[in-house]
Amino acid sequence: MKKFNRTTVTSALPYANGPVHIGHLAGVYIPADIYVRYLRMKGEDVIFIGGSDEHGVPITIKAKNEGVTPQEVVDKYHNIIKKSFEEFGITFDVYSRTSNKIHHETASKFFQTLFNKGEFVVKTSAQLYDEVEKQFLADRYVTGTCPHCNNDKAYGDQCEKCGTSLNATDLINPRSALSGNVPIMKETKHWYLPLDKYEDWLRKWILEEHKEWKPNVYGQCKSWIDQGLQARAVTRDLDWGVKVPVEDAEGKVLYVWFDAPIGYISATKEWAENLNAANKAQHIDKTVDWETYWKKEDTRLIHFIGKDNIVFHCIIFPAMLHAEGSYILPDNVPANEFLNLEGDKISTSRNWAVWLHEYLIDFKDKQDVLRYVLTANAPETKDNDFTWKDFQTKNNSELVAILGNFVNRSLILTQKYFNGEVPTVTEITEIDRQTIADIAAFPEKIAASLELFKFREALSEVMNLARVGNKYLAESEPWKIFASNPDRVKTILNISLQICANLAVVMEPFLPFTSSTLKKMLQMDSNTWDVAGSIDLLKAGTKLNTDAMLFEKIEDEAITAQIERLNSTKEQNKMTETTITPAKADITYEDFAKLDIRTGTILAAERVPKTDKLLKLTVDTGIDKRTVVSGIAANYDPDKIIGQKVTILVNLQPKMLRGIQSQGMILMAENNQGELCFVHQEKDFENGALVK
Ligand code: 2FM
Ligand code: ZN
Repeated sequence: MKKFNRTTVTSALPYANGPVHIGHLAGVYIPADIYVRYLRMKGEDVIFIGGSDEHGVPITIKAKNEGVTPQEVVDKYHNIIKKSFEEFGITFDVYSRTSNKIHHETASKFFQTLFNKGEFVVKTSAQLYDEVEKQFLADRYVTGTCPHCNNDKAYGDQCEKCGTSLNATDLINPRSALSGNVPIMKETKHWYLPLDKYEDWLRKWILEEHKEWKPNVYGQCKSWIDQGLQARAVTRDLDWGVKVPVEDAEGKVLYVWFDAPIGYISATKEWAENLNAANKAQHIDKTVDWETYWKKEDTRLIHFIGKDNIVFHCIIFPAMLHAEGSYILPDNVPANEFLNLEGDKISTSRNWAVWLHEYLIDFKDKQDVLRYVLTANAPETKDNDFTWKDFQTKNNSELVAILGNFVNRSLILTQKYFNGEVPTVTEITEIDRQTIADIAAFPEKIAASLELFKFREALSEVMNLARVGNKYLAESEPWKIFASNPDRVKTILNISLQICANLAVVMEPFLPFTSSTLKKMLQMDSNTWDVAGSIDLLKAGTKLNTDAMLFEKIEDEAITAQIERLNSTKEQNKMTETTITPAKADITYEDFAKLDIRTGTILAAERVPKTDKLLKLTVDTGIDKRTVVSGIAANYDPDKIIGQKVTILVNLQPKMLRGIQSQGMILMAENNQGELCFVHQEKDFENGALVK
C-alpha cells in the first residue's frame, strides 16, 4: 500500500444558479465533511476544498431571463450557498468561486500549458447557430428530442430523462433555448482534448489499478472506456467564462467542465495565500505551499461528487492532469448516487426539493437531525428516497429514543444520586468488564467503515454504542439498587457517563453540533480520535451540566405541514405541465397569410338561450356588421362588453350554432386556469384594420 502523508479532499463545486438542497448535502457535502472531520480528529494533514462553479450556460440563461448580468446571478447564489454550508457545519478550509481572478489565471495557464505541449487537436466543424441571437448554441442553449429515448426536452449536453450525454448536434428538431428559433449550421473552430489518445492509459489506471473504487464508480468508468473515448471540445463560443488564452480565439471561452475542476486547484492557491498572510500578520513562522497538496506523490487526492459528475472526475479531469504532467491523480472518487424526495427526482425547476435555507426556518437549530437522516439514508450504492415520515421516525425513534434517551438517563441519574458529579468507580463486575470491552472496540469499527467511505455503516456503529449504553443501564438497573448498594451505582454511572463521553467523541464527524453540546454538558474539551475507546475520559468529581437536552420529539403537525407544502407544489406543477399546450407544428407564411384578421368593436351582446357558454354578438368588422357566436359567457356579462374592442378572424367559414349563423371568430387568450380575455389592442384603431 502506498504511504500517504496528507490528504486533499475536494467536493464538487455547485453551480451558482440556485440555492442548495438536501440532495447536494446527502450526495456530496455531508460525506466529505464527515471524512474530513474524522481525519482532522486523527491529527492528519488534510485540506477540504469547496467553492461555487460560476460559469456555464445555465447561469447566462438565468441572467438573461431575469434581466441581470451573469455576475449578479453568481454573486447572489454564491452567498446563499456559502451561508447554507456554514449553517450546516460543512467545514471547508476554503470556499472559493470560479469567477475569482486567481481562478481565471490558473485555468488560463493550465490551458496554455496543454496548448504549448501540443496536447489539443484543433477542429473546425459545423455547429448549431441562432441567427437572431447571433450566437452558437452549445450545451443548454439548445433543446430538442433525444435520439435515444425520444424525450422532447433534452438539452444539447445531456438528456435528463435517460441520462445520456449528448452533443448539441445529436438532437432531433433542435431549437434555440434563447429564442425558440430553429438554428442553422455554421462553421466554428474549437480546441479538443483527444481522450482517445489516453484510452489505454485510462484503462490501465482505472480498470487495473483502481479496482477498489466503489462499484457504481468503477462500473460507470468501465462502460465509458469500453464504449471507446472520443475527443471532447474544451472551448465554447460564449462570452461568459475564462477567455481562451491563445491567438485566434476571440469570442471563445473554456468549456465550463474544463475550468471547473481546475477550480479545486485555484481554491487551494487561495487557501494557501490567505493562510500565509494570516500567519504572517500574527507573526507565526509557518507557511504552506499549495503545490504540496497537488503535486507531491505522498498526497492523497479524493474527490467527493454525485454520480452525474463521474465521467468528468474519473476520466476527463485525470486526462487533463496527466496531459499537464506535474499533478497527482485522484486516489479515490467516492461518488454517490442520487437522493429522491418523496418518490420523485429532486428538481430545481419544479421546486421539488427541500432547500437548506428554508429547512432551518422550519426546524431551527436542527442541523444535526438532517445530517443524521441524510447520512443514515445516504444514496451510497443506489438511489435513495427522503420522506418526511422517515425523517420524523429517525428523529423520534432513533435520535430521541436511543441516543438522547441514554445520555439523558445517565445525566439525570447522576444528578439525582450524586448531585451531578461524576462518581468514582468502586468495584468492577463481569457486566462492567464486558461493557468496557465493547466500548473499546467501537472506534476501530467506526474508523474501518469511514476509511472505506461507508458512512451509513459508520453512523450505525455510533448508534450501536448508544445501544450498548442503554442495554447496560437496563441490565444493571441502578434505580433499583441505589438504596441497598449506592457504591455499586457509582460504578454503573461512571461507566455510563464514560459511554456518553465516548459518544461525544465518535459522533463528532457526523453530528458536530450535538457533539459540542454534549461535550459542554460533560465538561470535556478533548477532540482527538485516539481518546475514543477509553473509559477514563471523565475524571471523578467533575461537575456536570445536566440541564440541556440533545434532541426533542418532532410532532406530526410539523411533518404534515411539510408534506402539504410538497403536495401544493405538485398541484401547481401539474397545472403548469398540463395546461401549457405544447407548441404546434410549424406552418408556412402562406398558411398564415390566408387568415384575414381585423380589428372590430362589439355593438350588441346577448345570451344564447339554454346555454351557459355562448353569447350572440353583433360586431362591427369595418367591412360589415355581422353576427358572431362566441363561447365567452362564463367570463363576460353581455351588458359589460358593449363597445369592447376585439380582434376577429373574419374569413372563417360560417357555421350554424344553436340555430344562429356565426360568421367569424373573436380571438381570445386563455390562461392556465381556463380564464379568457380579449386580445388587447394597444391603440384605439378604426374597425377593419388588418392584423398581420
Ligand atoms: O454538477 C455540478 O453541479 C457541477 N457544477 C460540478 C462541478 S465539480 C467541479 F468540477 F468543479
Ligand atoms: Zn434520452
